[in-house]
Amino acid sequence: MIQLSKMLLILFALFILLAPIASAYDEDDEDEEDGFEEFSEDLGDIAKSLLIATIVLIAWKPLHIWLQKSGIINNADSWGITDVKAAKKKLLRFNKWMLRVHIAAGTAATIVGLVHGIGSQMPDWESSAAWAGWFGMLAMSVLGGLIMWKWPPKAIKKRARALHTQRALLVITIILLVVGHEMM
Ligand code: HEM
Repeated sequence: MIQLSKMLLILFALFILLAPIASAYDEDDEDEEDGFEEFSEDLGDIAKSLLIATIVLIAWKPLHIWLQKSGIINNADSWGITDVKAAKKKLLRFNKWMLRVHIAAGTAATIVGLVHGIGSQMPDWESSAAWAGWFGMLAMSVLGGLIMWKWPPKAIKKRARALHTQRALLVITIILLVVGHEMM
């Protein structure tokens, strides 16, 4: 449970950290914006929401483990669960769905983020920090792909999983994205 509340705290902190990405654009002089720029900024909001949806897995994983290990059994009566085995099976299916959402949202966030970056910054390429953040997202997606695809040898898959699931790369990516957007 302590681990779960820690994860929820991290998620909450991420929401707060990522909020300036959208609000930074609000300060722009709207008269100067043309349709394409506005569209690019909308894409930034979409990329941010997709990244948050991707990161939800961090909070979900410990919650899922807790529910499978003890949560369902200990609370079956109060939650009105009569068939514990069936409930656990349903939860497993939901967990698979969550992973699918994670993969789709992560891939989409990286693609939409690229289009948003090109649309908002060309030809200035103002913020290298924001682009470094995007490369962090690309790295996370490629590592995720290495975990999922069949072809990589086991040793590569193992390293990819270790890099993809540890927090350092993700934290650096988010810091770069936030700092990069604050600079513009
Ligand atoms: C910006 C994009 C992404 C970010 C920031 C990200 C981040 C993460 C994080 C932090 C975890 C660990 C969750 C935990 O154990 O608490 C995770 C798990 C996972 N991610 Fe991603 N991810 C991204 C994209 C992807 C993509 C595109 C794929 C697949 C093509 C993918 C596949 C996976 C898989 C399979 C796991 C579970 C690994 C395991 O439990 O061993 N991710 N991701």
